[in-house]
Amino acid sequence: MAFPEKEDTPALLLMVAGAKGAVASTVAVAAAVLKSEPYQGLGGLTTAEKFPFLGGLDRIKMGGWDISTEVLPDAVKRHGVLPSSLWEPHAVDLTGLTIRPAPSAGDALEHQVEAIRADIRAFQAEHPDAEPVMVNLLPANCDLDKSRRFETLDQLLTTRGTTPPDLAYGIAAVLAGIPVVNYTPNTIELDAVCEEAQKRCVPLAGRDGKSGQTYFKVVLASAFKARSMTVDGWYSLNILGNADGKNLMDPDRACGKMKNKTQLLNDILGYTVGGRYGESAHKVHIDYYPPRGDAKEAWDVIDFSGLFGLPMSLRLNLQGRDSILAAPMVIDLARWVAALKMAGMGGTIPELGFFFKKPVGPNPPLTFQDQLTALHRLERQIIEKRSVSPSSPA
Ligand SMILES: NC(=O)c1ccc[n+]([C@@H]2O[C@H](COP(=O)([O-])OP(=O)(O)OC[C@H]3O[C@@H](n4cnc5c(N)ncnc54)[C@H](O)[C@@H]3O)[C@@H](O)[C@H]2O)c1
Repeated sequence: MAFPEKEDTPALLLMVAGAKGAVASTVAVAAAVLKSEPYQGLGGLTTAEKFPFLGGLDRIKMGGWDISTEVLPDAVKRHGVLPSSLWEPHAVDLTGLTIRPAPSAGDALEHQVEAIRADIRAFQAEHPDAEPVMVNLLPANCDLDKSRRFETLDQLLTTRGTTPPDLAYGIAAVLAGIPVVNYTPNTIELDAVCEEAQKRCVPLAGRDGKSGQTYFKVVLASAFKARSMTVDGWYSLNILGNADGKNLMDPDRACGKMKNKTQLLNDILGYTVGGRYGESAHKVHIDYYPPRGDAKEAWDVIDFSGLFGLPMSLRLNLQGRDSILAAPMVIDLARWVAALKMAGMGGTIPELGFFFKKPVGPNPPLTFQDQLTALHRLERQIIEKRSVSPSSPA
């Protein structure tokens, strides 16, 4: 294998839509801490020991866009995800990151894409030796009207009326040949966008990060399926007090996330939970609860039956931290798509279903076991392709 020496490997450039949000600002602090204290390491990465042709974790650069005008350290403080002892020593570095204003939501999609592409060129000029990745961390949004179909990207670009802002960032990245991580529940992956990504060999990974409750739901549902035990009902409750939680109180904005959180259970099990009652017995609730901030809590009550249909029940209580769970996943995913790009692989990547509530692409793996197997297979493919052709495709 002809891998370059470590010092020849590219830095990773994260271009983040929503750069001052809770997750993005946590990523920014993690990158700053790793730069000066690489020995700290970063828990929760699947790529930590993989892909030697990628730069080390101490070389993660970040820039992006936001509608907020506050400086990044103020955003970090406002979100209250991290103690000040962690981020304050890096306040100067954080203030120095380039975060550009978002294009105006009232502009035609075509013009928003042009503006973002100009910004992307400026980011690339600022970090000429880095491998760029677009990361979407915008707030959950109402979905694009499904009745509007777009045969081609040109048709989509010239569409009239407002479009979700995520689309402009995703399309700009694809046209610039830059891989995309869509961590939000918002649809970027319209057919026309996926086809363009396939044509240009740009990796598209999404959507809706599976960071906490849903991650464990997939693990447990897969365990029930493996033992052929019948799940009769599954009740999931979340409380969280961050901006994402507040935003999700709007039913229109929450509907994509709710669908993603709900549908996957039946898909894994292969039957409708609650079928015997003639209605779904998979209930998912999200409640905004300010005292908790980013420290979300989730409860699951799972009713299942065994021999002779005798009922049993399981309780799961997760006391997590939304952005603390999500930030390493964002870095990890960016490393996966950068590695895919460097190996000359593109289009939608259903093999990254391990990371998402709603994996995009054909026939994504559903059970936990299949998702892990697909991830390992993808790793082998990347290593093989990269060893045949070690230089980045143009
Ligand atoms: N935290 C998790 O575990 C998790 C899991 C799955 C999905 N997600 C999704 O990740 C996304 C980010 O979550 P968060 O908690 O950081 O949200 P957040 O609300 O804290 O951050 C969103 C940021 O986007 C900015 N923004 C809004 N419109 C913009 C635009 N047009 N252009 C640029 N910036 C814009 C906001 O000012 C804000 O800084 C959400 O969609 C959330 O649902 C999070």
